[in-house]
Amino acid sequence: MKRIKLLIPLVIALAMMIFVVACSQPAQAPSQDKEGTKTEQKATDESKTAQADASSVDNSYVIKAAEWKDKYPNQYETYMQNLEYSLDYPGAPSSSSYLDLFPALKTIYKGSNYDIFYVDPQGHPNALETVRKTLRPHKNAYCYNCKTPQYMILEQKYGDKFYKMDFEKVTPEIDEPISCYDCHTNTPGVMNVTRTNFNKAVEEFDLKVDEKTKACAQCHNDYYPSPENGEVSHPWGYGTDPDSVLKWNNENNWSGFTQPESGFKLIKVQHPEFEHLTNNSPHFLAGLSCADCHMKKEDGYTSHRWTSPFKDVDQVEQICLSCHKGMTAEQLMDAVNGIQAQTDKRFTEISENLERITKTVAQNKDSYDEAKYKEIESKYRDAQFYFDFVFAENSDGFHNPALAKDCLDKADKLIEEIDGLL
Ligand code: HEC
Ligand code: HEC
Ligand code: HEC
Ligand code: HEC
Repeated sequence: MKRIKLLIPLVIALAMMIFVVACSQPAQAPSQDKEGTKTEQKATDESKTAQADASSVDNSYVIKAAEWKDKYPNQYETYMQNLEYSLDYPGAPSSSSYLDLFPALKTIYKGSNYDIFYVDPQGHPNALETVRKTLRPHKNAYCYNCKTPQYMILEQKYGDKFYKMDFEKVTPEIDEPISCYDCHTNTPGVMNVTRTNFNKAVEEFDLKVDEKTKACAQCHNDYYPSPENGEVSHPWGYGTDPDSVLKWNNENNWSGFTQPESGFKLIKVQHPEFEHLTNNSPHFLAGLSCADCHMKKEDGYTSHRWTSPFKDVDQVEQICLSCHKGMTAEQLMDAVNGIQAQTDKRFTEISENLERITKTVAQNKDSYDEAKYKEIESKYRDAQFYFDFVFAENSDGFHNPALAKDCLDKADKLIEEIDGLL
């Protein structure tokens, strides 16, 4: 969550929760019980093989979250609490738009559509509503990759032509947001990572990650739609750290968008939480997965309310203070806020510098010879990439403070070099 540095007092947080839950759509009614029981049995039998070999995951049917309500009431109830974060739609009571917080983004991202609409991420069960309501124009069916387990079904149904199908055309076939199936298939409690593209990438690039981290990483990662068929693909040919990702993008001439004022071909990084955590972050080295911090252990079950751990001080005490002994929850949260405030300050400075350069280039580009223009473009592209690798990551530098600082330092250095050329 960017730039919201004051902890929301618990009372307000609770009040908001009740308000939003009251306004949200009711859960889908469980579909036929008989069918559910039958498929559940089938799923249990298959899960044994599914764990051993991801390619054997049966993606032909999805048991919906609401159908598990009676069998797993605690996991279901905490999962439904994620609806509370549906605060950031246009017209919603409190909207924290990145474009208001960092106005220079409107210039930098022009051409990518992120200059039109860019807000805090919402809770998982809101994902379908969010992707359908976004003010960014819809592209293709691949946009549903991280929003619904039914993605894998449609992928099987339509084959390779699925990814580039019209977004609106496949919409009627999708009615379940991110849910149990995404991490468990039809066997709640067993970790079964379902994203075909991610499982392929893990194999292809030989990534060493445990199943629990993969469960979140399968969506919280950087990707690009492959130019051939639009399939979600990952720029990890040289590694998942920012230098390697940039090198891959540059060697493959990949550009996500063209900035109209400058004419620069640029890269839009997408939520690289996985890349930040797993590239030598202190907490990955300490053996933690995403779920260890984002899912609290309750009496007899694991909470499925995924959000900022700071929205529940008990969660900070239970999880964080088990290692950070001798600190209070407040002291530790202050330390995190310090890292984030520093990162946010640099977001402002760097984005304003990039905006300034865009405007200068737009004005003067006719006076540059081609070599000079290309040199500025290349440095700008790299600077914007390093900025974005931190900006598009949702922890504002916390998941990997050293990596975030290193990226922003590189962006600063490139900006200095460009200034020497202008
Ligand atoms: C060491 C514990 C820890 C680990 C491990 C961890 N996170 Fe976080 N995460 C946090 C904290 C703390 C924040 C910042 C919360 C805040 O700013 O209120 C955060 C923020 C986030 C946010 C932004 C939340 C928001 O409200 O905007 C997302 C999304 C996220 N993490 C996902 C992940 C994913 C995915 C992984 C694994 C790749 C992961 N986290 C690993 C502790 C952790
Ligand atoms: C984003 C991934 C994800 C989704 C979606 C998800 N789970 Fe889980 N689930 C986990 C993780 C991670 C654990 C804990 C694993 C651990 O700590 O060993 C878990 C554990 C469980 C367990 C084992 C008991 C417990 O509570 O620790 C059950 C049962 C379960 N989930 C049911 C569900 C149900 C029902 C849904 C849908 C309403 C669901 N899960 C959705 C990731 C997920
Ligand atoms: C199927 C894809 C998918 C999986 C699996 C997944 N996420 Fe997410 N996650 C998303 C999307 C998409 C959003 C943003 C949804 C929106 O804005 O509507 C999101 C949002 C979030 C947020 C921000 C919500 C908030 O209220 O702060 C957190 C935190 C988060 N995810 C953590 C996790 C963790 C931890 C795991 C693993 C246990 C995980 N996610 C697994 C796709 C996924
Ligand atoms: C498994 C043990 C463990 C858990 C759990 C844990 N940490 Fe840490 N944390 C570490 C280690 C080890 C380091 C690196 C050494 C250090 O700086 O103390 C660290 C570093 C930090 C830092 C300093 C980072 C930097 O580079 O400046 C902060 C802030 C922090 N943790 C916050 C948290 C928060 C918040 C949580 C809970 C969401 C948490 N930690 C959970 C072990 C843990």
